[in-house]
Order: sequence, then C-alpha cells, then structure tokens
Amino acid sequence: MVVVLGLAAILAAVWTFDVFSESDEALMRRVQGIFAPLDVESVSADSPEFQRIAVGRKLFFDTRLSKDGTTSCASCHQPAHYGTDPNPQSLGVFKKLTPRNTQAVLNLRYHRVVHWTGDRESLEDQAIRSFTDPGGLANSTEKEALSKLSQAGYRETLASAADALALYQRTLVTKNSAFDRFLRGDIEALTKDQKNGLRQFLHLGCVACHTGVAFGAKDMIRFGLTRDYWTVTGSAPKADGQHDLGRQGVTGNSNDRNVFKIPSLRNVAMTAPYFHDGSAKDLATAIRWMGELQLDRKLTEREVHELKSFLESLTGEPPNWN
Ligand code: HEC
Ligand code: HEC
Repeated sequence: MVVVLGLAAILAAVWTFDVFSESDEALMRRVQGIFAPLDVESVSADSPEFQRIAVGRKLFFDTRLSKDGTTSCASCHQPAHYGTDPNPQSLGVFKKLTPRNTQAVLNLRYHRVVHWTGDRESLEDQAIRSFTDPGGLANSTEKEALSKLSQAGYRETLASAADALALYQRTLVTKNSAFDRFLRGDIEALTKDQKNGLRQFLHLGCVACHTGVAFGAKDMIRFGLTRDYWTVTGSAPKADGQHDLGRQGVTGNSNDRNVFKIPSLRNVAMTAPYFHDGSAKDLATAIRWMGELQLDRKLTEREVHELKSFLESLTGEPPNWN
C-alpha cells in the first residue's frame, strides 16, 4: 500500500512537474546555460582604436553631415531614450517621417541581423548607407556626403567614417541589469514576479525566438505565424495601399512575406512604442500580441503581468554616450 501511494505521489509529481515547481537555484543554473551577461572591455586611451572610437562618437552627433544640416544619427537614436525614439516614426531631414520605427543602437555587438528586414550586411554597411539613405542623413549622392564630411573638417572617406561609426556603436553596451546579476549568481536580484515571468518566458516558448545574449537579434521570422499581423495590430497600409510585407520587399520572394527581424529584448521596457511600425503603445500590449501572433495563444492577465515584470529586469545601465 505504501508503495502504491508512493508511486501515485511520484506520478502526480511527474504530471505536475513543470518549470513552475523548479527551485530558484535550478532556474538560475538552467538560464546560465542559455544566456550570458552583457559586457564589453573598455578600450585603453592610448590605443589607436580609442582615437577611431572618438571619431565615430563625433560623427554620430554631428548634424552638419545631413542633407539639410538639421539631423544626426542621435536625432533618431536618442541617448535619453536608450538609443531610440519615443515616437512610432522619426522626423528626419526636411521633416520627413521614417517608414519604420527607429531601432535602438545598443548592444549591437551581439546582433547578427541589421535592420528590420535584414537589408544591411553589417554595421559598417549600415553606417555607410545611412549617409545617403532618405530615412537617415539623406544626402543625394555619396559625393555630396563626402563633401559634407570635408567641409565639417573630417579627414575621412565614407568607408573610414562608417568604420568609425560602427566601432563606436559596438562600445554602447548596457551593463548590470537585474537579470545579469541573477545570471552571475545573485538569486535575490529578481523579484518573485520576475522569476515567474522568466519561467513563463521559457515555458510558453518566447525563448525559441528571443534567445542568446541579446534575447533575439540573431534571426528573422514571420510576424504573425498563423495570420497577417495587421489583423491583430490594426496597422494601416502604406501610401501604396499595401501593408509592410517586411523582407519580401527586399527579396521579392513570397516565402519572406511579413518576415521581420526578431528584435533584442534587452532594455525593451525603455523603448516603447513597439514593433517595426510602432503599433503597440506599451509593453503589455506588445506581449499580448506576441501571444496571439507568435504562439496562437491568448495570454492571461497574470501571464502578461509576470512576463512584463521579467522583461523589466533586462534594463541595464545606459552606456556613457559621450
Ligand atoms: C531620421 C532618423 C534616423 C537617422 C538620422 C538615422 N537612423 Fe538609424 N535607424 C532609423 C530607423 C527608422 C531604423 C530602422 C530602419 C529599418 O529597419 O527599416 C534605423 C536602424 C538603424 C540601425 C539598425 C539597428 C538594428 O537593431 O538592426 C543602426 C545600426 C542604425 N540605424 C545606425 C544609424 C547611424 C550610425 C546613423 C547615422 C549615420 C543613423 N542610424 C541615422 C532612423 C534613423
Ligand atoms: C516565433 C518567434 C517569436 C516568438 C515565439 C515570440 N516572439 Fe516576440 N517578436 C518576434 C518578432 C519577429 C518580433 C518583431 C515583429 C515586428 O515588429 O515586425 C517580436 C517582437 C517582440 C517585442 C517587441 C520588441 C520591440 O522592440 O519592438 C516584444 C516585447 C516581444 N516580441 C516579446 C515576446 C514575448 C514576451 C514572447 C512570448 C510570449 C514572444 N515575444 C514570443 C518573434 C517572436
């Protein structure tokens, strides 16, 4: 009889075993195997790299390099807003709105995909094309961009300026988030809600896409796995009457319909609004829509609350931009 009861107890334990009965220690050890804390070595002041980073920093804040002299990288990638813009679209040169939501330029050293549609090869490629991108510094030609550089007193080619910008951006890392302290062994760094949110994040499968050191930024995937995203987000079509089809617009391949970069969730609590079009005003909405669009699941208010608490633990200390 004792044996039978024991067996029933074990079976019950197996049936109910899930991440929610896992101890805090076991949870910590498990996530230590999946994620890693953010870090970057500081560059010594007498190294050549230090000089190049300083050039990149100066370029990043320099409005003289834009078509109309009003806009710098920092106009849209704002230090006060964790490297992004609090508006769904940014006002650029000649007060033109950018077609998509501005992405944060933090922790980029951990990103594999650049831009919402992955249409840039590298940070260097991104920076060089920003000089003439209508949604960037908007110079009409490379020649015009180059003359802006020399007029402003830089002795750079476009390629060397882009290299310096990329170097500088790779130094912008947010450190010491509560989650990173937890990863380093401080079990009390996360609140009870945050630990439960982390359990939800693993259990529901958010981690399947938002994974690695940056919690994403490695890959692209369809936004809306079982239906068009705009049926949930209410996103308006563009001027040509078409919705933003993401990577299909780059490759022309219908398999790429509605495929977008899986964004990093580092510092996500600081970078509203959300998604490539800024359609979700707040984090709770973004999480709810993720449930519907990527997991085909209506999340409960408790799940949304815990996930949001957990995502707040990914906010690190802002880097020294200057
Ligand atoms: C007018 C606003 C604006 C300006 C100016 C601007 N950007 Fe951006 N940036 C954006 C937008 C919008 C995106 C998203 C573009 C997309 O994916 O379609 C973006 C994306 C990026 C990304 C990709 C980040 C990621 O997570 O994939 C990097 C890097 C970047 N910009 C760097 C720069 C640099 C460097 C400059 C200056 C040379 C610059 N930007 C100027 C608005 C701007
Ligand atoms: C199948 C892959 C996938 C899964 C699973 C997934 N996501 Fe996402 N997530 C994405 C993609 C792709 C985007 C960007 C969509 C867009 O803007 O076009 C995104 C965007 C987000 C954003 C907005 C970030 C920003 O900067 O705009 C948040 C927040 C988010 N996801 C949280 C979650 C949470 C929480 C879960 C689990 C409930 C989850 N995601 C599950 C792929 C996924």
